[in-house]
Amino acid sequence: MIRGKFITLEGGEGVGKTTNLTFIRDYLQEHNIPVVVTREPGGTVLAEKIRHLLLDKDSEIISEQAELLLIFAARAQHIKHVIEPALAQGEWVLCDRFTDATYAYQGGGRNMRISTIEWLENLVQGNLRPDLTVLLDAPVEIGIERARERGSFDRFELEKISFFEHVRRAYLLQAELHPERIKLIRANRPLVDVQSALIDVIRTLLR
Ligand code: TMP
Repeated sequence: MIRGKFITLEGGEGVGKTTNLTFIRDYLQEHNIPVVVTREPGGTVLAEKIRHLLLDKDSEIISEQAELLLIFAARAQHIKHVIEPALAQGEWVLCDRFTDATYAYQGGGRNMRISTIEWLENLVQGNLRPDLTVLLDAPVEIGIERARERGSFDRFELEKISFFEHVRRAYLLQAELHPERIKLIRANRPLVDVQSALIDVIRTLLR
């Protein structure tokens, strides 16, 4: 059995992840590729419960350490029960956010130590890394505006603009550090242009 490919989609708030996730899924299915679409934090019953705890803005103050550990706890469940089994069966996994989000939000946004995140990444993931990561990038104000149009904010969306500037910078740094894996796509332009750039990137995996 040929192992499936692991694709992750990343970006700040309101960059159009959901629309483009659906687009990539449809494109893969048109090419007869079995694809499992999932998300982080989440993707299993327990991990979705952890997601709920993380996004709940009415909870007690969640410490940075607790936040980081909850994210990796959810990730451990997700990898064991969804991602690994699917890849092993030859299915492709398309995941809305993964560990680059931890480098961006907890590393960049919360200013946590990168070496701590790396340590947890190695512990929880072993050798598992995405085969391809699409990073949708747009100026922070544009994304926040789009997210605002969607309605109520979760615990992360309530952060200050400076938090999202740090998130964006950390994402761009990840892309610089891993140019072979992370493909940067500018998202503040017409959807057709974004999607033709997406096809160019996805095609390289189909060969
Ligand atoms: P989403 O609503 O865009 O799917 O993401 C949920 C929130 O979780 C989003 O604000 C980013 C945050 N998040 C982290 O802070 N660290 C992570 O590792 C992941 C996967 C998400």
